[in-house]
Amino acid sequence: MTEADLLDSAERLSREELEALQLERLRATLRHAYDNVGFYRQSFDKAGLRPEDCRTLTDLGRFPFTAKADLRDNYPFGMFAVDQSQVRRVHASSGTTGRPTVVGYTERDLDTWADVVARSIRAAGGRPGHKVHVAYGYGLFTGGLGAHYGAERLGCTVIPASGGMTARQVQLITDFRPEIIMVTPSYMLTILDEFERQGIDPRTTSLKVGIFGAEPWTEEMRREIEERFAIDAVDIYGLSEVIGPGVAQECVETKDGLHVWEDHFYPEVVDPLTGEVLPDGEHGELVFTSLTKEAMPVIRYRTRDLTRLLPGTARVFRRMEKVTGRSDDMVILRGVNLFPTQIEEIVLRTPHVAPHFQLRLTREGRLDALTVRAEARAGATPEQREAAGRAIAAAVKDGVGVSIAVEVVDPETLERSVGKIKRIVDLRQK
Ligand code: DLL
Repeated sequence: MTEADLLDSAERLSREELEALQLERLRATLRHAYDNVGFYRQSFDKAGLRPEDCRTLTDLGRFPFTAKADLRDNYPFGMFAVDQSQVRRVHASSGTTGRPTVVGYTERDLDTWADVVARSIRAAGGRPGHKVHVAYGYGLFTGGLGAHYGAERLGCTVIPASGGMTARQVQLITDFRPEIIMVTPSYMLTILDEFERQGIDPRTTSLKVGIFGAEPWTEEMRREIEERFAIDAVDIYGLSEVIGPGVAQECVETKDGLHVWEDHFYPEVVDPLTGEVLPDGEHGELVFTSLTKEAMPVIRYRTRDLTRLLPGTARVFRRMEKVTGRSDDMVILRGVNLFPTQIEEIVLRTPHVAPHFQLRLTREGRLDALTVRAEARAGATPEQREAAGRAIAAAVKDGVGVSIAVEVVDPETLERSVGKIKRIVDLRQK
């Protein structure tokens, strides 16, 4: 069997066939949403549009957006398009304030989800018979269960470790010998520390591939993890509102951004301020329309994730570039926009500091100030630490164009991630 034989039928479509399938599914989804969800009926009516007004894929751009606030306003089940007896599972994302965002799945939705995650793991290099260690959190978060059913669907053996109890993660990886790990990149670093603390060389584990997502991470982080574990590190993207993990996946053979599983999720990139649809290749906010979901179809859902769309390479599907960050996580310092990923690139390139850092926002008078707290590598001398601090500040000034303060703190002092990391500590008075 050759590698091409492993592709599923949708992965073998031509671009024309794919677009025909998308249009057919899009029209059915608009109809389903309009007929069964009060929110969509009202928002289409207000825009003077009917589902049948969507005759081409670009017509979708005339339809109104859906925002996270719309899901909150319809809490908990108001966005569901099927009777509750048809809903087999719900998930929810906590959010920072107030009501969680609730999402639901029919049996067929769960089936679709397992299929797209199985396809993702296969694109990452996973094969039937592999053991997959899942260290994404299990529960209302979609990471754990999403990865779990996808790995089972592919024919893998799942090790449902969930997040936390890091010493036990190391023991399970050492004893059960998984080929694949699925975890947030920040928690992978916590696991790395624990391997070293136990005196086990992380390069000697059975792991071959890590499938990392749920938070932004950079090429520098890929290099760090790949070198220190001697594995391939690939990116998986998704969000609860669209399905969970498995919306887009990076292929291990190219590692050139994430192929969006466009037969199920239709991507657009829009100008975050005007909402105008941007041509492929231009940077903006990612927007998704589900094409096959039953329980909770989403029409033009604004993700707030910033990226751009590129043509397919290893697959027919278009790619999304690695996400730079969420518009919510953008810091504006004296008029300059800054993302945590820009700091990550710089910190990870700087000698004598570990890949652990935090951004502290404070207010000095009427101006916001940013302090990057980076952790010294064990054994770094006071001179090396000072030089590292100066190098980080200079690189931020040069690359981003803004002055910041840097504190190089002692090894093992910054809080470690067990799931999605929170990079920004906002100490400004609201
Ligand atoms: O984080 C789903 C997921 C689980 C994806 C496990 C990948 C792996 P939510 O909790 O709803 O769902 O958070 C979705 O996380 O809008 C992005 O801001 C961010 N995110 C997810 N994957 C990536 C990624 C899951 N690969 C939000 N790169 C999204 C950058 C990501 N950001």
